[in-house]
Amino acid sequence: MKSAIIDSFSDDISSVEVRDVPAPKPVAGQVRVRMTMAPVNPSDFNYMDGIYSRSFARMIWNHGAEHPTESPGSDLFPAPPYALGVEGVGVVEESGGGFLGKRLLGKRVAVVSGPPHGTWQEQTLIDARRAFPVPRSLSDAQACSFFVNPLTALVLVRHLLQVPRGAVLLQTAAGSALSQMVRNLARADGFRVIDVVRSRAGAERLKQGNSQYVVALENDDILEAVHRIAPGGVDYVLDCVGGATGSTVLRALAPRGRMVCYGTLSREPISLPPRDIMMPMTSIEGFYLAAYLARRTLFQRIGLVRKTAKLIESGVLGTSVEQTYRLDDLHAALEHARRPGRSGKVLLDLS
Ligand SMILES: NC(=O)c1ccc[n+]([C@@H]2O[C@H](COP(=O)([O-])OP(=O)(O)OC[C@H]3O[C@@H](n4cnc5c(N)ncnc54)[C@H](OP(=O)(O)O)[C@@H]3O)[C@@H](O)[C@H]2O)c1
Repeated sequence: MKSAIIDSFSDDISSVEVRDVPAPKPVAGQVRVRMTMAPVNPSDFNYMDGIYSRSFARMIWNHGAEHPTESPGSDLFPAPPYALGVEGVGVVEESGGGFLGKRLLGKRVAVVSGPPHGTWQEQTLIDARRAFPVPRSLSDAQACSFFVNPLTALVLVRHLLQVPRGAVLLQTAAGSALSQMVRNLARADGFRVIDVVRSRAGAERLKQGNSQYVVALENDDILEAVHRIAPGGVDYVLDCVGGATGSTVLRALAPRGRMVCYGTLSREPISLPPRDIMMPMTSIEGFYLAAYLARRTLFQRIGLVRKTAKLIESGVLGTSVEQTYRLDDLHAALEHARRPGRSGKVLLDLS
């Protein structure tokens, strides 16, 4: 079967190779899934260039360790060579044993796994607890982006921040799939959103959609623009850019406001003058979906996944797609996914 593999960390797209490898065999508790579709997400590039691994290696619990773990005492974080692809959709063809695996046989499931058993392959292995049967009403294109963005948007808005009606939330990289979901949740929940994008063209695209307030870094000074819209500052900031953008939006917070860092698209650190958070008593916190879910009970996780399924079906957590590529055209797909100014996701057709 075909599989998209990297042998070592690199941000060079040509270092990913589609190779023929033997079909994998599930062990007890695992299922083998014949993949039909998978998205290309920013997190896939993090697995490619090693940013996850290097970040975990800096954490105190990995101090002096040769290989990092994701949390104290957990399994080693995977290292290449491995198959890429964090999430996707497919059909369960084989169970390695266990009650759950048997029940999943023949079912179409959304999966979230990631390397070493990536989803950018014709078949993958997955812990049966990470395969979720999806309703027929969801197309493969929607079902393949079931976990990473929809769950994160839902958790950030309704669980972590519990954004109340009437609040103002600012988000960076607002042209992203996840930001569109936040705007849809805002409409349903009655809070306002200020969308910050890097380009004028990106701002124009959002104005054509359902964006209420858009700031283009190419045109506007963020703080000037925020002051015009919310003179006292914003209640919440969702930042996935970091660098100069993340450093500036921190200062857009109203007293006691909260900023959540959940991505590193600029790859640059945020500068944090302590008084900028001391005087207004604001706070800055991090969010990583895998770590958040690991701290939830199985019952809570099932509840979240069910709620997500309903909100994808109703379109609130739906994903726009720009183009779908065959696995053989992976390099073109990756180049496209990295291109600025996309209006939707790049997907891989694995069928
Ligand atoms: N922490 C977590 O657990 C978690 C979970 C899910 C997603 N995320 C993060 O959420 C973010 C959005 O993911 P997504 O899948 O929704 O993204 P996406 O749909 O692939 O879109 C990426 C967006 O980022 C913008 N962008 C890329 N590089 C940028 C830069 N250097 N500066 C400013 N904007 C930049 C692009 O804007 P242009 O239109 O200008 O090209 C594009 O709109 C990512 O950072 C991802 O890693 C984190």
